[in-house]
Amino acid sequence: MPTPATIEWAEGNVRILDQSRLPEEVVYLHCRDYQCVARAITDLKIRGAPAIGIAAAMGVALGAQSISTSDPQNFLEKFQQICDILSATRPTAVNLTWAIGQMNQVLVTHPDEKISVLKEKLVQKALELHQQDIAINQTLGKAGAELIRDGNTILTHCNAGSLATGGFGTALGVIRTSQMQGKKINVLVDETRPVFQGSRLTAWELQQDQIPMTLITDSMAGTFMQKGKVHLCIVGADRIAANGDVANKIGTYSVAVLAHHHGIPFYVAAPISTIDFSLATGEQIPIEERNPEEVTHWLGRHRVAPAGISVANPAFDVTPERYITAIITEKGIFPPRELSRLKEML
Ligand code: MRU
Repeated sequence: MPTPATIEWAEGNVRILDQSRLPEEVVYLHCRDYQCVARAITDLKIRGAPAIGIAAAMGVALGAQSISTSDPQNFLEKFQQICDILSATRPTAVNLTWAIGQMNQVLVTHPDEKISVLKEKLVQKALELHQQDIAINQTLGKAGAELIRDGNTILTHCNAGSLATGGFGTALGVIRTSQMQGKKINVLVDETRPVFQGSRLTAWELQQDQIPMTLITDSMAGTFMQKGKVHLCIVGADRIAANGDVANKIGTYSVAVLAHHHGIPFYVAAPISTIDFSLATGEQIPIEERNPEEVTHWLGRHRVAPAGISVANPAFDVTPERYITAIITEKGIFPPRELSRLKEML
């Protein structure tokens, strides 16, 4: 069974699959205003770099519909406020600001257009970005599948699947394509503390597609590598700096260092929109610090640490380019140090 749609534009509303309720329930959120979309992003009801980009684009389109003015200047000001609120929802994934930038371009390229026409064009642009993302993942999936051999066990961290994107997935797109090509593969799924995107989302997606998998806790990755049970690692990315450093879900750095130590290839699969060529290195990537309750409480429900203690909860870490074998994109596979070659192709 294919994974249900992560997000849809449905009769003038934004319909979001509520990922905070998975895998227990498949429940949809019907956002009738952009503030609802903004909250859904902040609260991880929709998450994953490309998916929050699409959500933000749909949020901008939804917000624009509710601006009631015939004055172009006033429309622009209100539009900008909506963009600012959506941009501030999460800081690390660059796809969010990239997608809002794409929406802004609609106004920039049609300076004299009627407001009613602009509103329609904004909806069309958001839908186009959604479809484009699915197509990019399919292309990237084919490129990456060249790296997978029959019989491989692939370790992945977090969720870089259909749920984290417009559909199909980046790291899971590569895995899905390999399965579709008839290769026998097994996926080792890191549970991904503290929000459990691995066990709740990746394992759920793989189960839907009947892709063989084994769930492990994050601390088990090393022992599986040591025993020769991992052939390669593939993860997604939230932001990639110009030098190839990669910000991704907390714990990715540990996996990359372990892989390097054991001589296991470590790949990052991401669309070009995840690359931030304006940042020289990963040190400049802003890292989101989230609510300590994600650490002290199991899924916000059950306390697993004493009250009143000091807690750190960085949601992402940065893997230096030297630990990354290559970055899989829709324009091919690039060793991190060769990203400048990709920039020249754009
Ligand atoms: O906090 P999240 O769940 O939004 O973090 C998601 C990740 O880190 C993913 O690995 C990344 O966005 C790539 S998704 C294709």
